[in-house]
Amino acid sequence: MPLRAIIGAQWGDEGKGKIVDYLGQEAALVARFQGGANAGHTIYIGEEQTILHQIPAGILHPDTHCLLGNGMVIDPVGLVQEITLLMQRGIDIQGRIHLSSLAHIVSPLHKILDAYQESSRGPLAIGTTKRGIGPCYTDKVSRRGLRLGDFFNRSQAESILAEQLSQLEQQGIIASDQREELAAEMEKFWQAIAFILPFAVNSVELVHAYLQAGKLILAEGAQGTLLDIDFGTYPYVTASNTVAGNICTGLGIGPRQISEVIGVYKAYTTRVGSGPFPTELRDKVGTYLQATGVEFGATTRRPRRCGWFDAVLGRYAALLNGFDSIAITKLDVLNGLDKIKICVKYRGGDFPTIDLNLAEPEYIELPGWQQDLGQPQHFRDLPRAAQHYLRTIEELIGVKIGLISLGRERKQILVVD
Ligand code: GDP
Ligand code: IMO
Ligand code: MG
Repeated sequence: MPLRAIIGAQWGDEGKGKIVDYLGQEAALVARFQGGANAGHTIYIGEEQTILHQIPAGILHPDTHCLLGNGMVIDPVGLVQEITLLMQRGIDIQGRIHLSSLAHIVSPLHKILDAYQESSRGPLAIGTTKRGIGPCYTDKVSRRGLRLGDFFNRSQAESILAEQLSQLEQQGIIASDQREELAAEMEKFWQAIAFILPFAVNSVELVHAYLQAGKLILAEGAQGTLLDIDFGTYPYVTASNTVAGNICTGLGIGPRQISEVIGVYKAYTTRVGSGPFPTELRDKVGTYLQATGVEFGATTRRPRRCGWFDAVLGRYAALLNGFDSIAITKLDVLNGLDKIKICVKYRGGDFPTIDLNLAEPEYIELPGWQQDLGQPQHFRDLPRAAQHYLRTIEELIGVKIGLISLGRERKQILVVD
């Protein structure tokens, strides 16, 4: 009953999509267990780009099934758009996408509320993706949310939504002149619900059938460990647990059923949205990383903040998730730098007790490499300085590297023996 988890170890956008797609060729099922359309997972096959927001990155393998688990918050309108795009490209999704009937549903009201809350935060705005994630999880824990399965009783779901709308109007969050626009959104929402309801399944039964048959399941993480609601840079985090521990409740399995946890780290660090980022580079090296790494959000197109690899936070992520091995992505982006730095300690206090806003990183400086990485077959074929950089990260994190991504394309990956 192998279940391999792929978890982002930084602030998201580590390249999970590429790694899940790579490992997905062997998998029978790829299952998301948290988050929603805030995610943006990019895959390149040749020059063809696919950005997935809710559908797991196994969908490009014709025999792999995909599950949106109970721990997710599903945006029906976004999901229909995603499915339509895939179908237009000739990808056969028939019978391969399954939605947990227990997953909570993001309504247009959640998106309005997300935008409203962000604007009320003023300078303390989180920089959310405005996909309604926080308000939907808030409704879930307030025990007033609507799960996919609740929409089988349309009239009841309608009256709950009508009640929520009237509350937002009373609070002045939705103005009367917004009604017409909202009515159009609600129309699209109900059409999307009708489209996706046939995909609803008893996901617990589904997952356990795969486990019992001994078929490989991949649990696909979204966001990253430092955006975790408990362990991340609170309050500048997302609204769900992104760490491996949440796979159990997000899919309905026991902890002993997770057989392997793989952490995905970018070879440097990026962050989109607000919040502390000790190794952020506001100089020309930061601009270089942003341009060379094409660091723009896959969901919101916002420029990503860039900085050096932070081994203090990296080690913390490894502890929180219990990584068996790690994948390092975007090594190629560091080509051509004279010196590469890694943060190994913070001056002025220990992590995680130190306030990250005050943390002054202490760096070690390693030599860069000046050539392209090419398509090496073995670790020893990488430039010496790149080998040294990777071995240093491995030692600092305390976990072995299993995969190295050397370019955005599916085949640009090196398996470390
Ligand atoms: P995710 O959210 O973790 O799946 O990551 P994103 O897709 O949001 O962002 C990662 C970006 O880096 C995407 O544009 C990928 O195509 C790209 N990418 C992934 N791996 C590599 C790599 O090894 N090298 C380069 N240059 N780009 C990569
Ligand atoms: P993937 O899966 C990077 C960030 C937002 C914001 C914070 C809260 O592609 O790695 P939210 O909309 O979740 O309430 O926003 O979290 N964020 C991400 N950053 N990658 C993501 O997903 C993210 N999903 C949310 O920018 O700072
Ligand atoms: Mg992303």
